[in-house]
Amino acid sequence: MSAETQAAPREQFTGQVGFILSAIGSAVGLGNIWRFPGVAYENGGGAFMVPYLVALLTAGIPILFLDYALGHRFRGGAPQAFRRVKGWLESLGWFQVMICILIAVYYAAVIAWAGSFFVYSFGEQWGDDAASFFVGDHLQLADVGGADPWFTFDFVAAVLIPLALVWVAVTVVLAAGVVKGVQRANVIFIPLLIVAFGILVIRSLFLEGAIDGLNVLFTPDWGALGDPDVWIAAYGQIFFSLSVAFGIMITYASYRRRRSNMTGPGLVVAFSNSGFELFAGLGVFSALGFLAAQEGVTVADLDFQGVMLAFVTFPTIVSQMPAGAFFGALFFGSLVMAGFTSLVSILQVVSAALQEKFALSRRAATLGMGTVLGVVSVVGFGTTTGLILLDTVDAFVNNIGIVASAIFMCVFVVWVYRRGPELRYHLNAVSTAQIGRWWYACVGLVVPVMLVVMLVQYVIQRIDEPYGEYDETYLLYAGWGSVLLLFVGAIVFTLPRWRGPDAFTAWPDYPPTQDAAVMKEATR
Ligand code: ALA
Repeated sequence: MSAETQAAPREQFTGQVGFILSAIGSAVGLGNIWRFPGVAYENGGGAFMVPYLVALLTAGIPILFLDYALGHRFRGGAPQAFRRVKGWLESLGWFQVMICILIAVYYAAVIAWAGSFFVYSFGEQWGDDAASFFVGDHLQLADVGGADPWFTFDFVAAVLIPLALVWVAVTVVLAAGVVKGVQRANVIFIPLLIVAFGILVIRSLFLEGAIDGLNVLFTPDWGALGDPDVWIAAYGQIFFSLSVAFGIMITYASYRRRRSNMTGPGLVVAFSNSGFELFAGLGVFSALGFLAAQEGVTVADLDFQGVMLAFVTFPTIVSQMPAGAFFGALFFGSLVMAGFTSLVSILQVVSAALQEKFALSRRAATLGMGTVLGVVSVVGFGTTTGLILLDTVDAFVNNIGIVASAIFMCVFVVWVYRRGPELRYHLNAVSTAQIGRWWYACVGLVVPVMLVVMLVQYVIQRIDEPYGEYDETYLLYAGWGSVLLLFVGAIVFTLPRWRGPDAFTAWPDYPPTQDAAVMKEATR
């Protein structure tokens, strides 16, 4: 008897639309709205579209399919799915869970800031100097690197309270389950996000100076294509943005019915995510063009990197726009919705893993997780040193943790345990759009080779040049320490006995035993 007949039936998305909206909700997040425009601008502007599209086609979509195939065939969150490939690979699943834990604790903080700025928008409370309002009034950032310590327990109420509310909200959504919580949140927020962000982008395109901003984004610097860093940036952006290689799509795919089309929806999700990203790029650069025109400078003179783009540059633009309060609320409201639906997916990875391994009820797992991680998040990021910690953990976990995870997946699942043919057969047997042998070339060769090159270069760069010019001892603890924590967590969570139901039969059979016609069709 299979585990699925012994255990409570697995939760399931009600259908294709719920799944697609949830997967888009996960992919479209903070990375699309403020990360993409800056990365594209820094890496060749219009010319960046070439490596970006190559990365999408050669790595983003193939790894998305690998995630879908693992989750859907082995019907589990990351540790469960990898364990069903090979027992000890459960640890790779926990490595991905650890990535989600570290991302979630700071991602929630950015959503909380966006929530506060949504409220501030109505009175344009940042006044004339958005930079000092953000780091001074809102974050009360310590003078890090100066007289103040690197880490304090000086809590900032304006950050802490919204952050605690984000944790309460996400815990409530996850405790309600896949259909009543995750799917419902996405079905409500994603259409709202598209409308709100659509109005904002279209308005931005008609601002004075918008065309100059767009010219900056789309004037290609073809020379950039010869620079390996540009290619690395493109692959990094695609992984983070598509939510692949850190357990999310494995977990979501495991909640689809066994007979579910997987490849078609995968393409819809991948192209919607990139479409949204390009759309965000249009809006952000139009707005930057407007700001440059107002201030009589060029777009290149503006400071619009990372967190500052959303929380300093954008408020400055809003102050100068007609009906700025309305557009500020639309922008920060969009950031909250996009970020919240991604956070839900990141934490579903953790909750599913705890439920499955420790045989916990959904409520117990969600409540325990929400409480522990909520406290860690508040202690780490609700203080006067939160911004620096956030920046450091984000850089190390994304650029090292996620990339390493993608390499491990390709090496162990495809090379060592040779599950490529079975997973391709699975996808083709359940889907309408068939995937060809090109997929092996991508997940077996292009992706691991590209990523190993990228990772080695990045690690050397981080050793030569301390990240963000922060103190080296600080980086040792906060940056390299976060990477070490991924490995330690993976081991610690793997060691206890698996308490959940264990027996399992994958469907459809592989090698196919009964339906030769399906097999022939599927492996054409
Ligand atoms: N994919 C999510 C984002 O882009 C994590 O923010």
